[in-house]
Parts: sequence; structure tokens; C-alpha cells
Amino acid sequence: MSEKPVESLSEGEAAEELKRLAAEIAEHDRRYHTEDAPTISDAEYDALARRNLAIEARFPDLVREDSPSRRVGAPPAEGFAKVRHAVPMLSLGKAYTDQDVADFIERGRRFFDRDKDLDIAFTAEPKIDGLSASLRYENGVFVQGATRGDGVVGEDITANLKTIADIPKKLQGSGWPEVIEIRGEVYMTYAEFEALKQRSAAIGGQDYVNPRNTAAGSLRQKDPAVTASRNLKFFAYAWGYTTADPAPSQYDSVQKFKEWGFKVSPLMVRAKSIDELIAHYHRIEEQRSSLGYDIDGVVYKVDQLELQRRWGFVTGEPRWAVAHKFPAEQAMTTVEKIDIQVGRTGTLAPVARLAPVTVGGVVVENVTLHNEDYIKGFDSNGQPIRDGIDVRIGDTVVIQRAGDVIPQIVSVVIDKRPADAVPYEFPHTCPVCGSPATREINEKTGKEDSRRRCTGELICAAQAVEGLRHFVSRGALDIEGLGAENIDLFFNAGLVKTAADIFTLKDRRPAVTRALAERREEQAKQREAASGKTRKNVRSVEERNYEGLDKLFAAIDARREPELDRFIFALGIRHIGETTAAVLARQFTTIEELIRVGKETAKAENPHDVFPSITGIGDTVIGALRDFFGNERNDDVLDALLAQVHPKPYVVEASAGSEVSGKTVVFTGTLEKMTRSEAKAMAERLGAKVAGSVSAKTDLVVAGPGAGSKLKVATDLGIEVIDEDTWLQRIGRSG
Ligand code: IVH
Repeated sequence: MSEKPVESLSEGEAAEELKRLAAEIAEHDRRYHTEDAPTISDAEYDALARRNLAIEARFPDLVREDSPSRRVGAPPAEGFAKVRHAVPMLSLGKAYTDQDVADFIERGRRFFDRDKDLDIAFTAEPKIDGLSASLRYENGVFVQGATRGDGVVGEDITANLKTIADIPKKLQGSGWPEVIEIRGEVYMTYAEFEALKQRSAAIGGQDYVNPRNTAAGSLRQKDPAVTASRNLKFFAYAWGYTTADPAPSQYDSVQKFKEWGFKVSPLMVRAKSIDELIAHYHRIEEQRSSLGYDIDGVVYKVDQLELQRRWGFVTGEPRWAVAHKFPAEQAMTTVEKIDIQVGRTGTLAPVARLAPVTVGGVVVENVTLHNEDYIKGFDSNGQPIRDGIDVRIGDTVVIQRAGDVIPQIVSVVIDKRPADAVPYEFPHTCPVCGSPATREINEKTGKEDSRRRCTGELICAAQAVEGLRHFVSRGALDIEGLGAENIDLFFNAGLVKTAADIFTLKDRRPAVTRALAERREEQAKQREAASGKTRKNVRSVEERNYEGLDKLFAAIDARREPELDRFIFALGIRHIGETTAAVLARQFTTIEELIRVGKETAKAENPHDVFPSITGIGDTVIGALRDFFGNERNDDVLDALLAQVHPKPYVVEASAGSEVSGKTVVFTGTLEKMTRSEAKAMAERLGAKVAGSVSAKTDLVVAGPGAGSKLKVATDLGIEVIDEDTWLQRIGRSG
């Protein structure tokens, strides 16, 4: 490479070069982390990062807000092995106000309200702002440690975790289960963070943004000696897989952890009432600044493990715990312009581009403005809307990161509004395809939808490409190596117009190769232009070899028989998210059946004559299915797709040992030992399907006192009817 040596760069050249490097490294990070498809070698990546650092060392005043050296979580030179967690690592539901906490407790009371004398206790402890880790102990010996990852699969960082003094390599005391995964938070103290920054500054090294990111980067070091030098800390607060409960309650379990040699938060208490919990929240909040490490809220958990189990989980979160967050951090900045993005379903989404500002350790440059009314501050009838604000280009705004992730505008500083600022004119045509953009009237309420939508559908490139991006996204077909960026490339090159085209890409290998080569060429030229250097011995486009392509084609082929729920979700039908897709898959079991019912429903005058009543599927979803299957344009798209892809029929997984798994159960009458929702949750956990009405498909009816017509139908149909006690016996919960 003939790059100009760092020593001979002028200040102007250096600034240009840093800008280019920031963009380029960010792009490689994204390919590596998000797409898992790096396009350069680790050595090449390191060279870019080193050049960036060297230039920054020479021109410290030019270090950019978005410099790669300030971002941590930089990829390790070598990947870590993947670890599948025996029990998933969950996240927590959030509470922002005292009322949210009261609601949480009330939900618990309601869930258990058959248990009149039940005495629910809670624990309250700080929510540490670090990284969670899972530590597996077998016969008291630390054998494996992993990051959270996506909650299901993490990375094996055992060697790095072993360097943390707070993590015992052997458990002390006695009475530990044969196998237990201890979970907790790895974090860095402010003191350590400052010391590291100083050490780094002394050698002209990188800057570090905040303790959390630095702890993350420290954990992902290739060399455990580097991790060791960072003096990370660990608090134990939970567990995953275990052969025996540590104790019957959360609080006592954590006390056990202490006996076994772990550090546990000294600020954990056990409490009975909301007042006690809130009082403890404020106590912790008061101590926040003197703790010496970051915390971002207080976690409340149901204390009794028995009750935790009964209350159970919703998608990825325990119902029995909640994180009460501290108020978000705020900052002031200006709105430079307003852009309109067109989404998959044609929604015109306004985004404010801000003068970059740091909020809670993160640079914020964009913030959503939601919709037309929000920007105006009032609706089409001239009524002020809740949370709406009149935002104009040039305005000074207060922003905050809500729940620490999504930035939002809190208010406009009217005193600072430029004299010439005018209200924003929301476009009435699609900025991408020029089709009219309209606001639909909600049939049910007769009200105008707050969002304006492009009516172009498939002729709108934005909708088509967003639909394709969705099709290959994570919860959908999730094709490895085919991320948003490649979809854009293939779409723009005319290689992929609809989802079916993805599966025939292989037949167009030369064109695909050309598209990829052209992009590389384009990028190389940009680099050339930025650095003022010319490349020697440029290989012609055709000369290049794309070994990656075989991998990509193999990944596409591997997805020709997707799970039915993923496939339904991938279709991108409005209002059908992952959960609804799973419900539909379970109900209809094959794609053919869903299409058949969908089309019949679209034709029917009254959809309910055709579409079965399904818990969790309401009129909005039925309406969306009608629109989708009633639209002839979708027929061709679907036919072409189904010629390539064969979704697997849905099979109910028999969960081992459960007599009721795969059965359809109906509860009727009064239950005395538990609430309806608890009974339902329990049945579903055991793999049963719970229906609201009795039909020929029902396998079992659980009837309590007062059961009426459902009981009669069941008897008429000869369906087995049992009482609550028998039900509990059958699922092994009697006594
Ligand atoms: S309990 C089943 N307790 O918060 C409950 N989590 O939003 C699992 N965290 O990924 C978590 N302090 O990294 C729990 N005292 C605490 C915590 C805590 C920090 C983190 C943890 C988790 C995230 C959930």
C-alpha cells in the first residue's frame, strides 16, 4: 500500500484521513458484528485501526467524536467459541415511575389472587451497569464462563473471567449444587477506569468512553493478561441451570453465593410493600454517586422461588422481576434538518438530524419525530396532541435517552427559536417513488391514522427493499452473510426484486460477482480519492475471486426449508410480528392451510364466518391477512417464492414427561387453586394449547363450579372432562 506516512501528513490531510478511517472502520465493524461477514482480514483491519491511532497521536486535537478509538467493543483478532446457555439469559422488564412499580406488584397480586393468604415478598438491589456473565461450576469448580450474547448463545470467555479476583475458581463453604451456573455482572469501577485512561494517555494510546464499554472491551480481549490488567469486578445476583435450588428464596440464595465466595451487592434488601421498595430505590439513588461504579436503576424480584416459577416468563423476560430505572440523562442540541425515511409498509417516518451531542456517554445525531402530528404538535383537527411538540428546523431541543437506548426529544427551547423558523411541511408524496402518501382512516375508530403512508407498494423501491431486508432479517429467514447491505446491492443491481429471486441468485453467479466487484472497486476509488494515492497493479474486476460467494449460496440453500413461523413472519404482512406469526403457525400448521384460510377470509363478507377464533388474534391481524391474501399482486410473489422455498409444517414439540403436551385444553367455570391466567400459563409451559371455546379439536376440558354451556358441549362431543384437582394431579402439581 502506498499510503502517505503519518509523519508527512498536513493537518488538513490528517483531518480528511481520520474522517475516512472512521467511516471505513465503522463499516467493517458493522460487517463483522452485525452481518458476521467481514470483507477484510483481521490484519488489514488492525492496520486501519493502527493508522487511525497513529494519526490521532500526532494530531490529538483532531480526534473525532465518532473515532473508532473512542468506540469500544472493537472486535478481537480472533473470535471466541460460541456457548449455548443451558438456561437462556433473560433481560428485564422496565419501570420508570412509581406507578409502573405499583402496576408490577398489582399484576403479581392478581396473578396469585386465589391464594388468599399468600405473602409475596420482594428483593430490591442495584442494577449494575456492566455486562452479564454466566459462570458454570461443576462440583464446585469453575469450568466455563460465557457472555450473555443474544441471551441464547454467548461467547466462551472462560480464560478472561478467570482473571477476575471476585470470581472464585473453586467454591468455598459447602452445600453447593453439583452443577450451577452463577450469573452476575462484570463491571469496572470509576477508579480503575480513570487509572486506565491515564495509563493510556501516557503512552499516547486510545481514549476510553465509559466504564461499561471499557469493561466490555476488556472482557473480549484475546490475551487474558490484558483483561487481568483491567481489574474488573463481579457481583453475583442470579443463576441459570442448576441441579438444586441454592435456597428456597432469592434473598437466601444470594446469601449462599456470598458463603461460596462471591461478592454480592451490599445494597440488597428484602421487602414486603411497595412503600418499602420505593424507599429503598431512593436510598440507592442517594448513594449512587458515592458507590464508585455505574448503576442505572434498582431491580425488584419476587423473593420466593416457588412463586417465581409459578408466575413464569414472557418473551425473554421474567414476569416476576422488573428494573426500576433512574431518570434518563438529558442534553441540549439543535435540529439541523428533517429527513423522511420510507419503511417496509410504506410509512413515512420523519427523523431529525441533530448537531451531535453526548448524552449518557453516547453520541446522539438522529432522533425520531414519529409522525406528522407529532412534529406539528396537534392533529388534523387542530387539537393539541399528547406528547406532540412543534419542532422546526433550526430549533434548540432538549433530548434524552429513554431507557438508556432510544433517544427522544423532551422539549423545544422556544426562547432560542430562530426568528425565521417556519413550521415543518410534511410531504404528501413519497420522497422515494413520488406516489401519493396518504393517511388511512381507521375503520373501527373512524379516525385518521397518525402516519402517512406511501401508496406505491411494490413500485416503491423503498418498500420493496425494506421488505427484502425484513425477509432475510434475524427473526425471519436469517440468511447468513445476506444482510441489509448485500440486499441493497443486489436490489440496486436489479438482481433481486422479490424474495424468490434470492434463491435463484446462484444461477446468476457472474452478475453477482460483478456487482460485488464493482462495489469493492467503488470503495477502493473512494479511498484513493480521500488519500490522494493511486493503487498499483489494480486487478480487473473479472480477475477477482470471491470465495465468499460459495458460502453465501450455501447459506441461502440452507434456508430452503424454514420453520413455518419464521416464514410467516418473513412475509412482512402488516401487524404480524414474530409472536403472531408463531400463533398462526401453531394454528394452521402448514403454509398451504394458512393461504387457503387467508384467501377464503379475504373473499368472505364477514371474516369471522371463515377465520377461526384464536386467542391473541384480533380484528387488526385478521384485516391485515385479508388485505394480504386478497391482493392478487401478492399471489404471484408467493407462488414464485413457494416454488423455491418449502416451509416445514409446524410440529408441536412434546415437552418430555408432560402428559398434556400437544393437547388442546379448555378451562371453564371457576378455578379455586389458581387464576385463569396462571392456569393458562402453566398449561402452555407444558406444551398444551389453551383454547377459549370447546370444539371437536378440544382434547380436554377442565371444569370448575359454575361451568355451563362449554361443559355441555364437551359432554355432547364426548370430550374428556376433569376437575381442577385431577388437572393438577395430571400435571404433577397436586398436594
Ligand atoms: S437479574 C432473571 N439483577 O440487567 C433475571 N440483572 O435488563 C435476570 N443487571 O442482562 C437479571 N444488575 O445484565 C439482574 N441486580 C441485577 C442486575 C441485573 C444488572 C443486568 C443484567 C441483565 C440486565 C437485564
